[in-house]
Amino acid sequence: MSNLTTYFAWDRSVRIFHWINFVCVIALIAVGLAILNDDALDLTNDGKVVLKTIHVLIGYVFAVNLAFRLLWAFIGGPRSRWRAILPGGRGYLGEVRNYLASIRMGQPRQYVGHNPLGKLSVAILLLLLLSQAVSGLVLAGTDLFFPPLGAWIAGWVAAPGIDSTTLVPYSREMYDAAAFDAMRAFRKPFATVHTYGFYVILVFGILHILAVVITEIREGGGLVSAMITGRKTLDGTPADRH
Ligand code: HEM
Repeated sequence: MSNLTTYFAWDRSVRIFHWINFVCVIALIAVGLAILNDDALDLTNDGKVVLKTIHVLIGYVFAVNLAFRLLWAFIGGPRSRWRAILPGGRGYLGEVRNYLASIRMGQPRQYVGHNPLGKLSVAILLLLLLSQAVSGLVLAGTDLFFPPLGAWIAGWVAAPGIDSTTLVPYSREMYDAAAFDAMRAFRKPFATVHTYGFYVILVFGILHILAVVITEIREGGGLVSAMITGRKTLDGTPADRH
């Protein structure tokens, strides 16, 4: 008969971060897809600005939530810290080998926190989300003159005699042509990172969900409910019990 034990895995801050992030990323993907296809959707310039404004407002919630999580990794509980979520460090490769071997033997090692491959996945996801937040915040300035860079960008591209605080997106007659071209050149790499980042996040987001579902089926532990209640129920002795 198996011996079930319940362990405390994720603190409340991590769980709240996770679900706010989940909702924001899905919403940003949905609105981002509409922005990507704005020509096919036959939107007016005003329609495009409305879509981008909605995307950026959700983006602020997403970016603040992400910034909170990155800070929490310095000050939160032991399972929220960098040490618990980053791959690498002494013995990491050995841990990966042991974990893979245990899967091959049909007796996967159980973990209260992330298993060694889970750490890799979390680190990649956080890095991708950070890159998307930074590039998005730059685009919010270059495309809509929104904070944090909007005032500086508007001051850069405003035509002589135009008050930069009154600049309107897509109003070329208000811009200095040379400054606008220079600003678009500055913007370009951020737009490229943001667009490719979207596809990579889409693929990794799907892999992340698949990995959770497969791990749950093979190893149990209630991974999804653990992200709601904070507790995992395991039938073996976890490898990271401390
Ligand atoms: C997971 C997070 C995010 C995803 C998946 C995402 C996705 C996308 C996609 C697919 C586009 C269309 C790209 C294109 O037109 O080539 C886009 C555009 C944009 N995003 Fe995001 N985004 C995210 C976060 C953010 C954040 C945090 C902000 C700012 C606060 C932001 C601001 C913008 C802006 C201003 C545009 C318009 C750029 C343009 O004109 O192409 N995004 N985003």
